[in-house]
Amino acid sequence: MLLAISGAVAAAGAAFAGIVNSAHDFSSGGTGGPWGTPDTDRICVFCHTPHQAQPVQAPLWNRQDTTSTFKTYGSPTLDASVGQPTGNSRLCLSCHDGSVAVDAYVAGGPAIPHMMAIGDVYYPGSPYGEGGPNIGGNYSGNASVNDLRNDHPVSFIYDDGLAAADGDLRAPSSLPPNLPLFQGRLECATCHDAHNVETVGGTRLLRISNQGSVLCLTCHLK
Ligand code: HEC
Ligand code: HEC
Ligand code: HEC
Ligand code: HEC
Repeated sequence: MLLAISGAVAAAGAAFAGIVNSAHDFSSGGTGGPWGTPDTDRICVFCHTPHQAQPVQAPLWNRQDTTSTFKTYGSPTLDASVGQPTGNSRLCLSCHDGSVAVDAYVAGGPAIPHMMAIGDVYYPGSPYGEGGPNIGGNYSGNASVNDLRNDHPVSFIYDDGLAAADGDLRAPSSLPPNLPLFQGRLECATCHDAHNVETVGGTRLLRISNQGSVLCLTCHLK
């Protein structure tokens, strides 16, 4: 009976990719780049905890916040008001700004993180390459650190008014359900799935394929 159940679970697991063996698997033997730690075989702990979660953010968030202040995207043709990253974009940036150790989790883990931050690994001349996941560009000697001006804007309200003002945007109410807004805002997790469940193979945790720029064309009527 037990065997039958675990067989069913394994079969269900094979139906979607999930975090295990994705770029976000930081557990022992994990595939999250150079991070796989011998310290824990838990995979959720790097981001969530069932208890003693950070009061600042749902969902049961387990990470030290970033203290960075970011330069945000702007342009003469931008209609949206883009402020400091909030919502889940800020959660992503608690690793992806490059400044906070990947195991800087708060509850149920080591009080003193000893894994590297993204900025300690992805910097010019590093064996892991320049930039990459280091969206905030935190590495020693970088003059334009915490610079999101060269990244797609996030953490702004995307409503029908914005679509009308822009003229070339699809009304957000007609977006497919797998491109979610969060409290009406476009965030990192609108385009990406941190859990690699919806992810399309061969992409960087994207929720839908961007072959032929389909992802972009879903929102931009160009
Ligand atoms: C606990 C730290 C952490 C958090 C939180 C986190 N990431 Fe990551 N992410 C990483 C690391 C480290 C890598 C690089 C792994 C590697 O070197 O292959 C990565 C890789 C990625 C990649 C590249 C995937 C690939 O296949 O190369 C994407 C895209 C990404 N993250 C998006 C996000 C988004 C979006 C969020 C928030 C919704 C997020 N991440 C939250 C640590 C994190
Ligand atoms: C690398 C960081 C990261 C890891 C690891 C991670 N999550 Fe998340 N999780 C997030 C972020 C960021 C959000 C908020 C954005 C979103 O909803 O996609 C989230 C949202 C959620 C939510 C609420 C929204 C939803 O999708 O239902 C649940 C439940 C959840 N995670 C469960 C888990 C579980 C269970 C694990 C371990 C198997 C896990 N997560 C591992 C980053 C992570
Ligand atoms: C409008 C859609 C969109 C938004 C919003 C977005 N991304 Fe991406 N991101 C992409 C696409 C498209 C790629 C390239 C995917 C590929 O090559 O498969 C990408 C690539 C990445 C990569 C991999 C970079 C590399 O070279 O390894 C990371 C890490 C990443 N995004 C993190 C983030 C984070 C963190 C945020 C929020 C601050 C964010 N993204 C917001 C669409 C988006
Ligand atoms: C979920 C919807 C969505 C997706 C997917 C998306 N965008 Fe956007 N993008 C927007 C919105 C909304 C804005 C804000 C437009 C404005 O305020 O003028 C924006 C802004 C931009 C801007 C800045 C416009 C300006 O006037 O400065 C560019 C360029 C852009 N996106 C390109 C892309 C590309 C390329 C992709 C695919 C990799 C992409 N977008 C994917 C919704 C999306």
